[in-house]
Amino acid sequence: MGSKRYVNRAKSGAAVVPARLRRLVGNEARSGTKKLRGPTARPRRSPPAPPASLPVAPTERVFSRAVEALTDRGWFSCRDFADPDLVDALAAEARSLWDQGAFRPAGVGRGARWQVQPESRGDSVLWIDPDHATPPLRALRQVLERFREHLNRELFLSLRDLELHYAVYPPGARYERHVDRFENENFRVITVLLYLNDDWHPEDGGALRLYPGPDAEEPIAEIVPARNTLVCFRSALVPHEVLPPRRHRFSLGGWFRVRPEIPLPGSTPRRT
Ligand code: OGA
Ligand code: MN
Repeated sequence: MGSKRYVNRAKSGAAVVPARLRRLVGNEARSGTKKLRGPTARPRRSPPAPPASLPVAPTERVFSRAVEALTDRGWFSCRDFADPDLVDALAAEARSLWDQGAFRPAGVGRGARWQVQPESRGDSVLWIDPDHATPPLRALRQVLERFREHLNRELFLSLRDLELHYAVYPPGARYERHVDRFENENFRVITVLLYLNDDWHPEDGGALRLYPGPDAEEPIAEIVPARNTLVCFRSALVPHEVLPPRRHRFSLGGWFRVRPEIPLPGSTPRRT
């Protein structure tokens, strides 16, 4: 639907989104700028042009595939997720913030039990304040906001918000096998990761290993953290680990959350 609006506006000559911004807000806007082929156009060989009445934006198709995979097996990954210029801008921002010393070592545990434990978790993170996000982060949030709405519509998840951070794993850093949910808390429902590393090959290490369930010993997938690869999975159900990279490994990671008020059974204080 969204892309249809763009097509119509482009056709009527009223498209006002500047080219640079159009590139930053994702595939959807870009697809709207394509010229529709008229009856006098030369016959095209292959592939055939999609019918003009079905302008499904690429991202919407990705969202649908993600819903299917999250339902069937609990995780999803795809390459070329967002607009490449947008992901380049995010990668440059992460690198420059890292160079400025803006990241802090990540910890494990919660509250009084929070501690930095580089041998089990060696990344550094920079939390993103949604009210002070830069233009590329705002543009990515718009894409992920549409993803959140899609997940809510299709899976009835009641996801309310997205917490987001940049992360960097210096060479040799790892994150041992874990699930993204603290004991007695069920806020985090879907984990989302977008990798920012240019020209990354399997030999560079840093793969994300996913396991099919809490008792599984064999991984079900090993994902190369190459630029513009998206991964998402059900936070409480998919154990995962990050293998040590050979060079700095940058990502944006986050969680779609439900309202913090919803308690897990057993998480209320018990009287003794
Ligand atoms: C995390 C995490 C995985 C990755 O931050 O909890 O598991 O591939 N990240 O960066
Ligand atoms: Mn994790």
